[in-house]
Amino acid sequence: MSDRSITLPSFAKINWTLEVRGRRTDGYHELCTVFQTVDLHDTVVFSEAEELTLECSDPTIPVGEENLILRAARLLERGGGVRRGARIFLEKRIPASGGLGGGSSNAAVALLGLATLWGLGPSAAELASMAEVLGSDVPFFLVGGTAAAAGRGEELAPMQDISEPFLVLLNPGVRVGTAEAFKGLNMQNLTDIRPESTLAFCLKGAGSLQIEQGQLVNDFEASVFEREPGIREARDFLSAKGARVAQMSGSGSTIFAVFDKEETRQATLKATLRENWRMFAAATLSRTEYREALDPCHRLLPISF
Ligand code: C5P
Repeated sequence: MSDRSITLPSFAKINWTLEVRGRRTDGYHELCTVFQTVDLHDTVVFSEAEELTLECSDPTIPVGEENLILRAARLLERGGGVRRGARIFLEKRIPASGGLGGGSSNAAVALLGLATLWGLGPSAAELASMAEVLGSDVPFFLVGGTAAAAGRGEELAPMQDISEPFLVLLNPGVRVGTAEAFKGLNMQNLTDIRPESTLAFCLKGAGSLQIEQGQLVNDFEASVFEREPGIREARDFLSAKGARVAQMSGSGSTIFAVFDKEETRQATLKATLRENWRMFAAATLSRTEYREALDPCHRLLPISF
């Protein structure tokens, strides 16, 4: 057997803005958000093998069938009517359960990497529907760049790239479960509790987005900060360091900060941190850069974006 392998970056995302507009009859919540890929990334290596196996550099990440990478593999096998093997290695850098979409990104990259390794040819629509089954944020990672999203997060509209080169991501060492964060929402305090939001409506608001404190919202912040005050302290730390914006990403716990200048960012990166706090320098990743990084799988990426 040859030892062909494919190595792909699996990028993180932040949410520039995240509004929860109401609870739906299917138990999910109707969202309006603007996703953004950033250059912080895991690395996933897919190698030919008889058996399907997954190893991870981080021993705290479960590598059984519940891992989204293996669930993606099973979906692909079922979709293609095949049974294949692969040795998969995940080099983890994106903090887990940190609001940065690490698991969702890994799932999307697994669909792309394994379909390529196995010579399968799912259409972009088939890939998107597999992504949707794997999780609400997974379809975005087939697109990348800056994109508005509505519905559960799977209805996507690409936007003009927002470019911010001086980001800091601060993970306060707390894991926030997505389902728990949705359950903990104080529905009365949300941006808009009308559940009839549409992608067009969401995109209209997103079009005029300003990356300024006070212009961006995250409807999870109030309830998550209340339960985990350390996350608010991480936000306050970054604001005090002169960030133009410091806000929680997704359902937490990571705070992203936007700096105007590299010098101010560097001073922040050199600051002494509390135990368990992890800080990363990052930059936005445009849709073109995202697609180029996934070049080994280019034939599978949607052409309309
Ligand atoms: O789709 P995903 O598996 O990432 O979602 C995890 C959980 O978060 C869901 O089971 C649901 O409880 C909650 N969720 C939600 N509304 C969304 C997305 C997720 O209530 N739009």
